[in-house]
Amino acid sequence: MQIAIYGASGYQGKLVIAELAHRAIDMRLVGRNATRLREAAVTSGMVDAEQRVADTDDHDALVAAFRGCDAVINCAGPFTSAGPAVVRAAIAAGCHYVDTAGEQFYIKAVFDTFADEAERAGVTVVPATNDGCVPGDLIAHLLAERVQPVEEITVSHFVVGSAGLSRGSLRSALDTIDALKNGGLGYDDGDWRTGIPARHTSVTLPGAEHPTEVVKCPLSEVVTIPRHVPVRHVESLIDAAVGARLGTPITPEIIDSLPEGPTDENRRTQRFTYLIDAVGRDGRRARGVVQGRDTYGSTAVIAAEAARRLVADGAEPGVLAPAQAYDPTSFLTSLAPHGISWTVTDPDTPTAQH
Ligand SMILES: NC(=O)c1ccc[n+]([C@@H]2O[C@H](COP(=O)([O-])OP(=O)(O)OC[C@H]3O[C@@H](n4cnc5c(N)ncnc54)[C@H](OP(=O)(O)O)[C@@H]3O)[C@@H](O)[C@H]2O)c1
Repeated sequence: MQIAIYGASGYQGKLVIAELAHRAIDMRLVGRNATRLREAAVTSGMVDAEQRVADTDDHDALVAAFRGCDAVINCAGPFTSAGPAVVRAAIAAGCHYVDTAGEQFYIKAVFDTFADEAERAGVTVVPATNDGCVPGDLIAHLLAERVQPVEEITVSHFVVGSAGLSRGSLRSALDTIDALKNGGLGYDDGDWRTGIPARHTSVTLPGAEHPTEVVKCPLSEVVTIPRHVPVRHVESLIDAAVGARLGTPITPEIIDSLPEGPTDENRRTQRFTYLIDAVGRDGRRARGVVQGRDTYGSTAVIAAEAARRLVADGAEPGVLAPAQAYDPTSFLTSLAPHGISWTVTDPDTPTAQH
């Protein structure tokens, strides 16, 4: 198995290099800048890994750079501008494709644009294989089995610790600032639209005495969950204090002056809790909780596992949501050794899984 990493020179790309190296998976490092690619190979201790240079405006070069690999992990954000060319080239090269995108409109565009192309090429495309979307989407599928028919699914993200965002994440936030300000897409009555009011303004975290204020946030799960769960309403929320910060743009110059991303120490002290709440049409409730540390390290683990499974186990060709491509329980359980725990509970039959 050989996996190409596009955007291998970036902060997230280097974490994916480390993860593939840890799994002894053969890799090809691809990016637009030869010097930065070489530096990434050296700092990651992977000087012998194959390296190819290809820009996103050169389709033939990109296809040639991917050809012969089994899958592509795309870490080159902002995806809204750079992503579609990489998806198109991966499909043309006959490679399965996953990416670390969190940009909601780009993710929806991948489903809307590339489904037929991927199907004809016999490859599987799974966008948004990041720390939030994969576990949230898989757990939503498990919750739906408990409370179907499903009225609503709410996904809420809470991250604490001093890690902050990488420069790449800040650039992606800047590229999608309108969505961050207005809450982006919600899903309601069979379609995705902007401007759908949130049903919830607060969420109570496990073990908390008081609810936490939340606001709409354009998370990837809103795009993927309705593809496999028949549901009337899906919304995504974030801690209100964090939401206010994300909606305040900073300039490209300020972003350029910041460190590449959180230090290893800061990543270790960061904690995330993602809640997935499902309500059935009859009022039954079920909750999924995902907890872990280090959002960028977790994204590297999840993207690597997502690509590896497409190659090793196969999936239907086309553009798929995580729960359409992977067995939810098996994938979620594989994350435990990496410090990502999960539970699914409902008030009537309080069972839990890890
Ligand atoms: N939960 C989530 O939503 C989540 C989690 C993790 C990561 N992410 C996303 O992952 C992305 C990567 O983050 P990062 O911190 O690794 O960013 P980064 O350090 O800025 O790295 C970006 C990488 O993409 C390449 N790149 C950027 N624009 C390009 C273009 N137009 N053409 C070709 N290559 C291009 C860069 O190449 P050069 O080195 O040549 O500049 C670099 O390799 C971001 O979009 C971030 O939002 C999302």
